This record gives sequence, C-alpha cells and structure tokens, in this order.
Amino acid sequence: MANEKKGWDPNQLRKYDLNLEQIPRLDYGDPRVDELIAENKPVVITGSKLVKSAEKWDIDYLEQHMGNGDFTVFLSRNHKFKYYDEKKMAQKSQNGENVKGVEFSPPTKKIDMKLPEFIKRLREWKRGDERLYLQQGLNNTVGPAIVHDFVHFDWDFCNSKQAKHHWGPLTSNLLLIAMEGNVTPCHYDEQQNLFAQIRGYKRCILFPPDQFDCLYPHPVHHPHDRQSMVDFDRPDYNRFPKFKEARGCETVIGPGDILYIPIYWWHHIESLMRGGYTVTVNFWYKGGPNTSITYPLKAHQKVAVMRNIEKMLLEVLQDPKEIPPLLRAMVLGRYTE
Ligand code: FUM
Ligand code: FE
Repeated sequence: MANEKKGWDPNQLRKYDLNLEQIPRLDYGDPRVDELIAENKPVVITGSKLVKSAEKWDIDYLEQHMGNGDFTVFLSRNHKFKYYDEKKMAQKSQNGENVKGVEFSPPTKKIDMKLPEFIKRLREWKRGDERLYLQQGLNNTVGPAIVHDFVHFDWDFCNSKQAKHHWGPLTSNLLLIAMEGNVTPCHYDEQQNLFAQIRGYKRCILFPPDQFDCLYPHPVHHPHDRQSMVDFDRPDYNRFPKFKEARGCETVIGPGDILYIPIYWWHHIESLMRGGYTVTVNFWYKGGPNTSITYPLKAHQKVAVMRNIEKMLLEVLQDPKEIPPLLRAMVLGRYTE
C-alpha cells in the first residue's frame, strides 16, 4: 500500500473539492530548503533534530511531567475549531448595551483545564462526543523534565533560519494536542511559523497570499478576522464563487517533520481521522523589518496594505456598515468599466 511505510492511509484524509499540488519534502541539509524559505514558499523539512528531545512526548509522559498549571482547551461539538478573537466580540456596558464589537456566538468554548483532566477525556473519547483541542503556549509552569526537553530543542537550527531569513524575534512556542480528526479551518497568521510535528500525522493544506479573493476572509473587525468565510466541508459557491478557482498545495506531516508556513499563507490543518491524537509545537516568529520595499509589491504586502486600509476606515467611520458604501463610491464607475 502506497503510504503504509509513512504510517497513514489516504482514507484518513477528509474529502474536499480542491485543486492541490504537493508541498516539497526536503532533507534539512538540502540547500533548496533555504531557497524556498527565502522566496516565502512552504517546505517540509525532514531529518532535523529541532524537536528530537520531545519525541517521547506521548500523553503518559506529558501527564507525568507537564505540571499542575492551567492549560487552554477549546471544546467543539463538531470537528472544526475555528479561531476567534475575544477582544473583537461585543462588549456590553453596565446597562446591557453593546459598546463595541460584533454580536457573535463563538463556535467553540474556551476553558482552562488541568492536564490530567484533559488526558482523561482524550483517553475516554468516543466518536460523537464533544471534541477537545489543547492549545497552550509553553511557559514556566511546566515541570523540570519538560524544561529539560525544551532547552534541548535544536535552537541552533531555528536560530540560524531566523538569522538567515531576517525574521523578527521568536514570539511563542504553542503546544497543540489534538484529538484525531480535529480541524483548524483555513486562516492566515501574521507571523512566520516553523510547525514541528511530534506525534501522529497532520494534513496541511496551504494557499499563497495571492489567493485572498478566492478565500474570502472575514472583515478585520470581526472576531473571525484572518479566517476564511468558506466552509470547506460545504462551500457556498453562490456567496463565494471564486473559491472554485482556489489553487493551493498540501502535505501530510508526521513525527520529526517541520513544515515551514510562511507569513500570510493560508493554512487548513487536520489531524488525520482514525489516527489517534497528535502533538505539535510551533515556533512563531515576527516578520522581518520592511527595510527595503521593492516594487511591484508582493502579494503578502498587498494583504497587509488592505488590512491597514480596513482598520483606518473603521477608525474614522466608526461603524463597519459605513465601509462598503464608501468603497463602492470610490471605485464603482471610476476604477471599473
Ligand atoms: O491545528 C493546528 O495545528 C493549527 C496550527 C496553526 O494554525 O498554526
Ligand atoms: Fe495558524
């Protein structure tokens, strides 16, 4: 069987109607790795020792050594964990009026949980039960064994990528422990990401920033800012006709693989179905300084420009409903035929 050696099977992938190429898989010593990163293109880096010290991080080990801190866990009634920004949700004044923000019911519930409770629920989980997804920045509440493993990550490897590609500072290492079949729907982040897989397999579907108009992000003031409005399970082609034209790439990563997810690249990530739980640690870096802008602008720079225009309009107009008529008046019949 084609993928037996790899530890997963194509039947474990969710089915989508998408046009996807394969992301290149290259050994960490291959010079093409840095060529791709320099071009802001995704690559799966194999054979590195970046998180080798964490290869023993199964749930027994984590339960024993993670410490007694509170961990952020999301709960979902379905397989999707669409991110939302709580700061952009409606905030009520004392007399119950909305002072600002969008009226919104979150698709997942965010709670604090101790690790033993999370792991108990993971062990006892059956298909049809509520799903859990732990997403916690690695911090100083973890026990000494985890600190030891963390200190022994191959920092030379990621520091050299950071220096060579002029990334800004490392902002965080997020630990992700997912149930099989969990999906993080398509979105982009404003950071460079070295996405290091530790246990289990994740399928990652990526789209370049120039696919913005095919992926229909929510407006920037919305709690789902940076998330695609398109439901990949059931795309509404009437609302989102250009989604049919979206062109992307995909890969399945397993233990020891690192996926470079370039800043502003869209990504949809799924833990394979019937594959058991997955453990990932990501390394998020700020983008580099914009010292020398060259023209024509790159697609991700245009996305940043659009974000800034949206934010500025919102600030001066004060009401998101005023943005479409203003933009229409500015463009229709003047810049259109
Ligand atoms: O589910 C995930 O692993 C998502 C990661 C990300 O969006 O960076
Ligand atoms: Fe992300």
